[in-house]
Amino acid sequence: MEPDIDRKMQQLSELLNLWSEQQFSFDKLDVIHRIAEPGRPEKPILVSPKDLPRRRLGSEEGHAALMHSIAHIEFNAINLALDAVYRFQDMPERYYGDWLGVAGEESFHFQMIREHLAHLGYEYGDFPAHNGLWQTTYETDHDPLVRMALVPRTLEARGLDVTPPMINKLRSIGDKRGVEILKILLRDEIGHVEVGTRWFRYLCEQQNLNPFQQFQHIIEHYYHGDLNGPFNYEARQQAGFSDDEIAWLKTL
Ligand SMILES: [Fe+2]
Ligand SMILES: [Fe+2]
Repeated sequence: MEPDIDRKMQQLSELLNLWSEQQFSFDKLDVIHRIAEPGRPEKPILVSPKDLPRRRLGSEEGHAALMHSIAHIEFNAINLALDAVYRFQDMPERYYGDWLGVAGEESFHFQMIREHLAHLGYEYGDFPAHNGLWQTTYETDHDPLVRMALVPRTLEARGLDVTPPMINKLRSIGDKRGVEILKILLRDEIGHVEVGTRWFRYLCEQQNLNPFQQFQHIIEHYYHGDLNGPFNYEARQQAGFSDDEIAWLKTL
């Protein structure tokens, strides 16, 4: 809920310390709040995706706008990883360690991008952004199975598909540091999707559900967007997508 960026990063690292010192209590909370608006700074202003101005990467502003959109994703990703820790109380301990680890990596990503953005002469908040990532997080707060399917395995997995072309574009405009950062992000995001896959499978097993059919079912019934390629099959495979799932993606 902390809206101030620096205080949020500070509190997150304190949280990670507490975890590593085994200071977490696993007593259940009586009330778990729905979080329509997690802590975030006043800016960026949020607009609907169709109202985001399209900018060419060739211009300095377009270059910064691309970095800004990634910064926004990473910032949201901190909130959504922490929400996965806070909200779902019946998971094994390792689940909480996994998602705290994700939160830590997201904050590292955010800070790298934020610094790079500063080199380009901009800061987080200078461009409008959309709220799709949090919206889906909010809409999946009733069920960790649906959350794992739609947030890490669909939205974060989309990052695996779009990052390599983005790396090529940055390379073509000579942004070496940008290329370097995105490569780190891609590597780490494979791990985040894998965490989602692992806990998705765990929950399917507990409920005697076929993970392949269940994933398709959730995409068809809960996902607003279309699942569109091109997909990064190799990265998705590394992130735990099964052969059946890969074959299915190839039909879309
Ligand atoms: Fe990230
Ligand atoms: Fe991530």
